Amino acid sequence: MSRPFLSLKEDNERTLLSEIKAKKPVLTALPPRCTFELSWRCNYTCKKCTYSSLDRGKGFSAAQLPEWPWEDVERLADEVFPTMRYTESTLLGEPFLSPQFTRLMELYRKYGVYYRPTTNGSLLTDEKIDLIAGVTDWLKCSFDGHNEQIYERLYLNRNFNTVAKNLKHFSRARDAMDPYPWFRVGLVLTRSNLFHLKEYADFVFQEIGVDDMEIMCLNYSNEPMADEFYWDIPERVNQLMDDLIDHCITHRYRLRLAFTRMPRKDGTWIDKTSVERSKEIADTQPRADNTGFERYSDEVRVGDIFGNKEQLEEGYVWSNDMRITRVEADDGSNVGVCEFFTRPFFKPPTTEFDGKDWIKWESCGSCSTFVFGNLKEVSFRELYNTPMVQEVRKFLYGKYAMPRDRWMLPCKHCLCVDQIYSYRGNGRLNVGVRMFPGEDLYSYPSRDLQRRLINRGWGYFRRHGFLPAAKMTYHFLKDYYEGRKGSQAG
Ligand SMILES: C[S@@+](CC[C@H](N)C(=O)[O-])C[C@H]1O[C@@H](n2cnc3c(N)ncnc32)[C@H](O)[C@@H]1O
Ligand code: SF4
Ligand code: SF4
Repeated sequence: MSRPFLSLKEDNERTLLSEIKAKKPVLTALPPRCTFELSWRCNYTCKKCTYSSLDRGKGFSAAQLPEWPWEDVERLADEVFPTMRYTESTLLGEPFLSPQFTRLMELYRKYGVYYRPTTNGSLLTDEKIDLIAGVTDWLKCSFDGHNEQIYERLYLNRNFNTVAKNLKHFSRARDAMDPYPWFRVGLVLTRSNLFHLKEYADFVFQEIGVDDMEIMCLNYSNEPMADEFYWDIPERVNQLMDDLIDHCITHRYRLRLAFTRMPRKDGTWIDKTSVERSKEIADTQPRADNTGFERYSDEVRVGDIFGNKEQLEEGYVWSNDMRITRVEADDGSNVGVCEFFTRPFFKPPTTEFDGKDWIKWESCGSCSTFVFGNLKEVSFRELYNTPMVQEVRKFLYGKYAMPRDRWMLPCKHCLCVDQIYSYRGNGRLNVGVRMFPGEDLYSYPSRDLQRRLINRGWGYFRRHGFLPAAKMTYHFLKDYYEGRKGSQAG
């Protein structure tokens, strides 16, 4: 079956690469992929999740949160879908809950865009599988426990058997799908599942039939999940990760990791850094058996022309430390092709500081700190080359020639630079900071705020470790922005 707009997508990507290599602040080529989050709406109340959200008070239900109005979806799709290869909904809400899902899939088919959901799996029924067939080339299910007890402890419901059944069914149903979707499960590491990682791996590969499993770090999002922290036992975590890595290599399971070594609470490393350990694994692991790879989409196998792909052909264990993407510019310097260039982040509707309804174009998926404008009022193409966007582009082209302490604030603390958050590497987290057009991108809104942040952050950091400190910073900044600007969410 031929794919609509494919040659336009390929041309666009080539143009984008040449414009970045030429370090152009004004781009004509559009992003080849995006994070498109239709809504925060969700049918679950997971213990770990800030959107669910155990700390939002009695009566709160994420099932009621707003979605993009359809006319805005169509407007954006008309602008960016012809040149787009795929979109991801990896961050917010439960994608299969949307009442607009059927026509959304029609829109993706019309423009030849692949749809990549991250889901809790509870609604992945036959009906949904029919809708995504031919459109989904990659799917991730967030799946934190491999048995009823762990699942119930973390998801606060008894849905384990339904979800496990749905996932097994989806894995088999892929045989009738073209493209054949890459199937990933993602586990957010918690105290409850940390000691069962090898059993988990056996379950997801042997019983469910996934292509790979990912382990993500737990971010602190609410008080009720505090007993799931493991930052007090980094040595133990490192040992368990090493055991898992060996297990996966022995059994030929593909494993994707956020980190291969965890630092101590104070940010110092135990015998080696995560980057060093990742390099050691990359250098010593056996080459993976890639039989059958041709059935996946080009986007899965090859990634984009910047090398952003979803799997590793060279080996079984792949960590974030191994995938920082750079291109050589025409002048011989290096440009980090971060998500700002390749993956804008379109967020669900909010009401912002000006009291208006916003649909924000933020950058980037991993930090979402710059807010470039309101897509309810201005088209993406108009926003695409505004002074703020050009300022960020110019900075990114010269970033590696500059000492890090002089970088723009969001980039200084970005996951695209150091793939594991540590106070040593990244300094203070970006969590909760939003920089709107017209603001100084190199400093926090006021010296006073900065001082208060440092005082609170360090006290918290000393007592609890860096991730709780980040969350505290988030709440503090959220209060601050609500007071100053009335930002309601995200
Ligand atoms: C918020 S969910 C939205 C998509 C979908 N509802 C799901 O659960 O897969 C996006 C991802 O964030 C992860 N997540 C939720 N709370 C988290 C936390 N406190 N720390 C790290 N990841 C978290 C989920 O496991 C999931 O992979
Ligand atoms: S299913 Fe996803 S969005 Fe919903 S509460 Fe759980 S982690 Fe959050
Ligand atoms: S914060 Fe900066 S370096 Fe990180 S993804 Fe955004 S623009 Fe790129």
